[in-house]
Amino acid sequence: MRRSEPLRALVRETVLDPGDLIYPLFLCPGEGVRNAVSSMPGVFNLSVDEAVREAEEAASLGIGGLLLFGLPDAKDEQATGAWDDDGIVQRGLRALKQSPASKKLVLIADTCLCEYTSHGHCGVVVETADGFDVDNDPSLEQLARTAGSQARAGAVFIAPSDMMDGRVAAIRNGLDKAGFAQAPILSYASKFASAFYGPFREAADSAPQFGDRRTYQMDSANLREALREIDLDIEEGADMILMKPAMPYLDVVRAARDRVGVPMGAYQVSGEYSMLQAAFEKGWLDRNRTILESLLGMRRAGADFIVTYFAKDAARLL
Ligand code: PBG
Repeated sequence: MRRSEPLRALVRETVLDPGDLIYPLFLCPGEGVRNAVSSMPGVFNLSVDEAVREAEEAASLGIGGLLLFGLPDAKDEQATGAWDDDGIVQRGLRALKQSPASKKLVLIADTCLCEYTSHGHCGVVVETADGFDVDNDPSLEQLARTAGSQARAGAVFIAPSDMMDGRVAAIRNGLDKAGFAQAPILSYASKFASAFYGPFREAADSAPQFGDRRTYQMDSANLREALREIDLDIEEGADMILMKPAMPYLDVVRAARDRVGVPMGAYQVSGEYSMLQAAFEKGWLDRNRTILESLLGMRRAGADFIVTYFAKDAARLL
């Protein structure tokens, strides 16, 4: 049954479609700005006007949605840039809404504080006897406020990536009170403390200035804990869930698929992208085949959709 392409196509169990791909964009202040991210060839920090152009290209390729990150004008301890109605992601959302591309793309706002805090952590930092702690509950209020502001600016989906406990419930509540009862939540339900986020922290300028994220992101060794986090987020009101990284955690994707009914996605993170790009540059891997095979593996593991920096490349190939 593998003798010809029509035959293989007939019995193929898993398909990739550009509409299942979500393309991350990093928005930055200015006009006409396209700053290359050195550790992620092909990825740029984009001013809002350039992001609109990028969105139009993504829409014409049939890509399903955009995931928006922001590099604010200034950072502070309180992450005020995250919930400022005139913040960078909010400005981007309003501009994208004006573009015809927004009729074809689902606009998803990444909701987190790490790009906006001067210390680079995903929540509120407090001093303790033995150093510092990321204080869970005060962070929830800031996240809910950020989500409300993003919804007001036109985000279709709110995607909390901070991993504080109880944030889906806090954001759901905040959105309902702010008049966005219909705005759905895509929760990064299972997010591991991973070395594979390294290049992202250059792209989003969000590396923690001290300590690390292991007190709030998950230990790589834990599958059962991932499933518990997923159950909790769905109970709290998550409409869809996201798992990351993807390639080293496909067992988590499969286990989640077998357990819950909500739509779910896998995030092929920055480090996965960068290591493949490095191998392509060296001529060690075939670019086109490897991109599609890596994404197909995530779909086969059970992901309905995939967040990937290869979205445009993959959509062109498909
Ligand atoms: C923000 C966030 C991170 C990523 C997505 N949202 C970084 C982190 O947790 O340090 C990583 C995405 C990637 O590596 O491509 N909390």
